[in-house]
Amino acid sequence: MDISLKSPSEIEKMRLVGDLTAKVLEMIKPYVVAGVTTSELDDRMLEYIEKDLKAESADLGYQGYPRATCISVNEVVCHGIPSEHQKLHDGDIVNIDVTVRKDRYHGDSSCMYMVGNVAPRAKELCRCAQESMYAAIKTVRPGSNLADIGDAIQRVADRYRFSIVRDYCGHGIGAGFHEEPQVLHYRNDYDLLLEEGMCFTIEPMINAGTWKCRTNRKDGWTVTTADKQPSAQYEHTLLVIKGGCEVLTLRKDENFPRIITHS
Ligand code: MF3
Ligand code: CO
Ligand code: CO
Repeated sequence: MDISLKSPSEIEKMRLVGDLTAKVLEMIKPYVVAGVTTSELDDRMLEYIEKDLKAESADLGYQGYPRATCISVNEVVCHGIPSEHQKLHDGDIVNIDVTVRKDRYHGDSSCMYMVGNVAPRAKELCRCAQESMYAAIKTVRPGSNLADIGDAIQRVADRYRFSIVRDYCGHGIGAGFHEEPQVLHYRNDYDLLLEEGMCFTIEPMINAGTWKCRTNRKDGWTVTTADKQPSAQYEHTLLVIKGGCEVLTLRKDENFPRIITHS
């Protein structure tokens, strides 16, 4: 397997694009309200990425993907295509997933937004997804095993009695959008020791009901839960550093450290 270790100059680019990615998710927050269409949100983010950040959306045109971001509402697990026919409603839980490219390097992050009054169970689902991602991030350091990530996520999901999507995983990231390794979000016996300079995402998708998913046959992208119960996801891009890791896509609204070191 060929997992790239980033050089100091590559790390600088990853830090920069990671910050830009976080900024997109911060910028859009006040606009995620009842009545807005997901297409309007996508237009606003694309304009911000291109005009303000002088960067590109890596999603746009990726394997034919038609829009700049993925916006996944309620039972949509991932790859929701922004649409002028889809308005947000009170009580919706919304994942926005953005991948920014700048100077050839990629930052990939997503988070949940709640529209108005959200049902307690849906809130709990979002909390579980975020908590499981944070628990997984805390395992990341040189010498830890990639499989510790799935283990940490599984512990949190089991405690909440929610299920973990198995069809999609995190991924190495850098000059490539999706690089090796694959980062599994459930308990697994993938044996890979982490090293300083690795960059990858952790992006657990947590379902309220079954973990099973369906892909829309007409658009080829939209993934929903098989039982139409809601799904939630959070994603960060990480860099393995001496003694721990750095969250390259950390936002200001998060109550979590940018740099986690152990011992
Ligand atoms: N951002 C997604 C990920 O986390 C990938 C989206 S690909 C797209 O890996 F084409 F659907 F945009
Ligand atoms: Co990703
Ligand atoms: Co993503």
